[in-house]
Amino acid sequence: MLPQATAHPVNFSAPKLGVGINYHWDLHHLIQQNLGLIDYIEVSPDIFCEEILTGQERRFHLDGKKLQDALTLAQSCPVIVHGLGLSIGSASGWNSDYLALIDQYAQRQSFLWHSEHLGFTLAKNQDGSENHAGLLLPMPFTQEALDLLCPRINHLCKRYAVPFLIENTTYYLPQYSNTAESNITVWDEIDFLNQLLTHTECGLLLDLYNFYCNAVNFGFDPYAALARLQLERVIEIHVAGGVTHEGFLLDVHSSEVPEPVWQLLEWLLPKLPNLRAITYEVLEQALYVMGEEKIIAQIAQCKSLWAKYLHLMANSSSRQQNSGAQHHVAA
Ligand SMILES: [Fe+2]
Repeated sequence: MLPQATAHPVNFSAPKLGVGINYHWDLHHLIQQNLGLIDYIEVSPDIFCEEILTGQERRFHLDGKKLQDALTLAQSCPVIVHGLGLSIGSASGWNSDYLALIDQYAQRQSFLWHSEHLGFTLAKNQDGSENHAGLLLPMPFTQEALDLLCPRINHLCKRYAVPFLIENTTYYLPQYSNTAESNITVWDEIDFLNQLLTHTECGLLLDLYNFYCNAVNFGFDPYAALARLQLERVIEIHVAGGVTHEGFLLDVHSSEVPEPVWQLLEWLLPKLPNLRAITYEVLEQALYVMGEEKIIAQIAQCKSLWAKYLHLMANSSSRQQNSGAQHHVAA
């Protein structure tokens, strides 16, 4: 049973961070050399681990050396946590060992917020054994999925003394559609995200590249769709570039941000009063394909949009103050 729907006020005390990149030890040197440009790192504690399945038990084992390198770098810039392995949408229950890993990480490193993908990787067979999909599978946009996700999200909002964000993902099959016989409530992606935000206290990590992939693959207008989203709940944005496979855009973070995504970002920024951060996401393998210079150029482009954004926000807040003062005088 879902908690009663309320419009949650945005109560987010973290500072506006700026522009960051996901941490990987292959990118360690690049990040270290560009800390003037890179404002923060986004860390996925999963990457410091080996995931071992013994019988039906899944365990994460931390690699102390890799973790220590990241912790050393974190002394020079803020950290946010971005999870990969929770499987928040599994019908059989999420990956509790993953949460134990985040607990461990939280004891070693403070972070300003944490986030996880909207989807699942684990599914149980009838005999109780577990399957790992090997990639993130999307949730159906149904009432049943909402009922499963909301209590879990609300738990994550309270588990640490920092906010929690949920991230939109790509999907590769058409969603169910409502039929008179089906008796199932099915939303589109935007309505589903709005339902999640209405029934929980989390913020939204809007992955613009994922969203653009869905728009291209399923032929909808991303501008019209985003105009329906609760944009005041967007706290962080991801941008990335990927590849096209047989006409389908894939969310492989392996290249430069496509021009339409930059345009979407520029259009969207003035509409995001509570945005705190823009993260350029790139796989470690991309370092060798793209080279350092191209990666830095992507971050610099984010940074120049971020500077414009701050300017716009400062102007709009001074306009509001002026109109408040004039109203006060007139009264
Ligand atoms: Fe992302």
